[in-house]
Amino acid sequence: MANELQWHEVCDADELEMEDVVEFENGGNVYAVYRIKSGCYATGGLCPHEQARLADGLVTGEFVECPKHNSRFHIPTGKVKKVPAREDLATYPVREENGKLYIGLEG
Ligand code: FES
Repeated sequence: MANELQWHEVCDADELEMEDVVEFENGGNVYAVYRIKSGCYATGGLCPHEQARLADGLVTGEFVECPKHNSRFHIPTGKVKKVPAREDLATYPVREENGKLYIGLEG
């Protein structure tokens, strides 16, 4: 049985602008939280290629580009779209409530 989701506050909602990304750390893990036209999303925060921080990457449309070797990932699904990375990113739910953004992580 899956563990229950726990919601962790990431930042004030208005700190995250359109086509922007912030980093969030919890329990030694790094996450990236994005705002794009279709809403807010979260993925693992480290590139599966050589662990660059995706919060330092460039968000364009529905994609984030790794700052190190320019792999591209589809933000809503985490799917890798351009090498050298070959693994997809994990994705996590995000919700916006009372002016704050929260990421849902299994507790
Ligand atoms: S570290 Fe991201 S593409 Fe190499």
